[in-house]
Amino acid sequence: MTDPSCRVVELAPDDDLFPSWCEVWAAAGRDARPATPPRPAQEHVALGRELMAQGGSRDGTHRAALVDGAVAGALRLLLPLRDNPSLAMVDLAVHPAARRRGLGSALLAEARAIAATHGRSLLVSEVDEPGPGAPGRAFAERHGWSCDLVETRRELALPVDEHRLAALEAGAAAAGAGYEIVTWRDRTPDPLLADRALLERRMTTDAPYGDLPVGEEEWDGDRIREYEQTHLARGRTVLSAGAVTGGRLVGFTDLQIPLAQPEFVHQGGTLVLRAHRGHRLGARMKAAVLRELAAGFPEVRRISTYNSDGNTPMVAVNEELGFRPAGALSSWSARLRDPLAVGRLGMVEVAGVLHSRAARASGAGCG
Ligand SMILES: CC(C)(COP(=O)(O)OP(=O)(O)OC[C@H]1O[C@@H](n2cnc3c(N)ncnc32)[C@H](O)[C@@H]1OP(=O)(O)O)[C@@H](O)C(=O)NCCC(=O)NCCS
Repeated sequence: MTDPSCRVVELAPDDDLFPSWCEVWAAAGRDARPATPPRPAQEHVALGRELMAQGGSRDGTHRAALVDGAVAGALRLLLPLRDNPSLAMVDLAVHPAARRRGLGSALLAEARAIAATHGRSLLVSEVDEPGPGAPGRAFAERHGWSCDLVETRRELALPVDEHRLAALEAGAAAAGAGYEIVTWRDRTPDPLLADRALLERRMTTDAPYGDLPVGEEEWDGDRIREYEQTHLARGRTVLSAGAVTGGRLVGFTDLQIPLAQPEFVHQGGTLVLRAHRGHRLGARMKAAVLRELAAGFPEVRRISTYNSDGNTPMVAVNEELGFRPAGALSSWSARLRDPLAVGRLGMVEVAGVLHSRAARASGAGCG
């Protein structure tokens, strides 16, 4: 039963209530993981402006659940524009002090209605699960969503043990003769841009998803530049390493550092093209970017990453580096039948399964 004093309103990133909307995310984050600094408001504002600007690769909108005029719940809906045309990504949080009063359900109903109005028939969302009993899991199950994927979150405490890192580098270098490891910060070098776009596209087809049907994303150099700009606008700097052979970039790994609170860093994607696997390039690239991080940002204390348990090679590299499990991230989906009719009637039927890597728009790292 929804709290009768609850009202759902549309918000834009420059509205007076937007800082309170950001604070809902921060409070939910502190509640779930007290030792992890929540995402700064600047990240939400920058993403919000990007979603509302014309010409980008995705569209989006924000809603707030107000109780007695104060923001108690937050919804962001992202709509990919270049690919996955049936998909809408749902980011949803309710302030810990306002839970179990129907606010989450009211915002989810709003998300379904908006998605349907835009002709989207699939909703996806992610739930952070620091341990058993995460409220997001019970909520998603209650609403009939399908759990498509569970990834283990791992964290690496820094500084990395020098002996461990040097041993990994020595072993990996011997296996990867013929490949040069290069590094860059924030802007992919122009000669490598087209290859970098192909790698991002392969992230949406090659990373293991069990039996999930995954929509391949359309990436080109312009979209890579847009993505790079998004990180800068959000106040993040990105350290990257790549593997190059014959002048072509065949692998990459990214670390995203929130400059306002650099002690906690997010792993972005890591991928090596199929034809170049088996040379320990993943380990070499990760070691190289860790060296860059240690040199430029000695204040960093932890890195977090997410891997499917079936991603044996990536998990092995991470374990070798010293990453240790720290909960899970689950991905959920629901299908709206006849979205346009749903939009008109304001009701939905939930069924079916689909997951898209596009859900990574929410910012979780993997690799
Ligand atoms: C998940 C979340 C949005 C739910 O918000 P909420 O306002 O408490 O949700 P509702 O009151 O609408 O809950 C609807 C139903 O979901 C189930 N549910 C929600 N939280 C639950 C919990 N902690 N334990 C068990 N069931 C729960 C219940 O069936 C509940 O109905 P009931 O209260 O009548 O028993 C909130 O806990 C949250 O912000 N969590 C962190 C972020 C997150 O996980 N987002 C989910 C993305 S899908």
